[in-house]
Amino acid sequence: MLVDGVPYRTIWPIEDGRAVRIIEQRRLPHEFVAVDLGSLEDAAAAIRDMAVRGAPLIGATAAWGVALAMAADPSDAGLGAARATLAATRPTAVNLRWALDAMQAALAPLPPDRRAAAARARAAAIADEDVAINRGIGDAGLPILAEISRRKGGAPVNVLTHCNAGWLATVDWGTATAPIYRAVEEGVAVHVWVDETRPRNQGAALTAWEMASHGVPHRLIVDNAGGHLMQRGEVDVVIVGTDRTTARGDVANKIGTYLKALAAHDNGVPFYVALPSPTIDWTLGDGMAIPIEERGGDEVTQVWGRASGGGLDRVRIAPEQTQAANPAFDVTPARLVTGLITERGVCAASAEGLAGLFPERAVA
Ligand code: MRU
Repeated sequence: MLVDGVPYRTIWPIEDGRAVRIIEQRRLPHEFVAVDLGSLEDAAAAIRDMAVRGAPLIGATAAWGVALAMAADPSDAGLGAARATLAATRPTAVNLRWALDAMQAALAPLPPDRRAAAARARAAAIADEDVAINRGIGDAGLPILAEISRRKGGAPVNVLTHCNAGWLATVDWGTATAPIYRAVEEGVAVHVWVDETRPRNQGAALTAWEMASHGVPHRLIVDNAGGHLMQRGEVDVVIVGTDRTTARGDVANKIGTYLKALAAHDNGVPFYVALPSPTIDWTLGDGMAIPIEERGGDEVTQVWGRASGGGLDRVRIAPEQTQAANPAFDVTPARLVTGLITERGVCAASAEGLAGLFPERAVA
């Protein structure tokens, strides 16, 4: 997407793929900074410490991490160590495992002296595939927004989204935002309610920045405002992303998504989840089996932002002696999901729905 008129992806190779450059997301929205990753350790730290985040981008960064590792040590032991290091970075987004499996399948059959070049090519292909997939999600989701717009006589479609499932969470386009960006391209009026998404505020920092950068009308709301707005008819549709969707359509996404789904259900507001197929965990049926990341309590007891003096700083908001719990994701059961928006079209959040779109993956 464009940043000050310049097209960007969130990750791209430099030096013929001997390093990669990422947008340092911890500096946004205050500073737009790109940093270079030159080693497996750099890539693992970027995922673990959330310089990059969002399920598809975690997968793409992991793929590049393997490529960087293969430049240093293309042996079987090197490949195994790279997989283990990257797999341990974040537990919930299944795109990480998907990307590591894809890299393993491409590299393991090759002699070590051919692995570095093959790894660069496969990582680049995974990134390109992500862009195409997300564009497909946009095309699949556009009719949902266009139909609501038609019913409203062209008045803006009020979309509520949670966390950042925008282009910053992917290589480009985003998942939940792809239909929004396509709607804007097609002249469908939209207005986006952006949940701030405590504790890390990916909505306030990243989604709001994306919407502002692309001139998409939006307003930032506190996480607890969604139910109130739905009761008053001010939300036409909810679209969120997901870090892992089970084969039966249960969905893990940023903490607080479940409460939005409950409120949407109670108010008859359609609740869609946008996802690329690498986010489907075909090995799991029950969403309660999805591993949920527990993050440090400091994210809850402190907030980060630009201080009145101009510098970026952390501020403590809880008593010094107060401990915090910080589950980073929750699971929305399939029964609360109106539909899954994938690159192959929209389906019911059910085993049958997913099997209909992905017959080659469905288990009997
Ligand atoms: O902790 P994060 O910022 O990695 O969480 C991101 C989300 O929850 C997104 O909604 C999800 O990864 C889908 S991204 C297209």
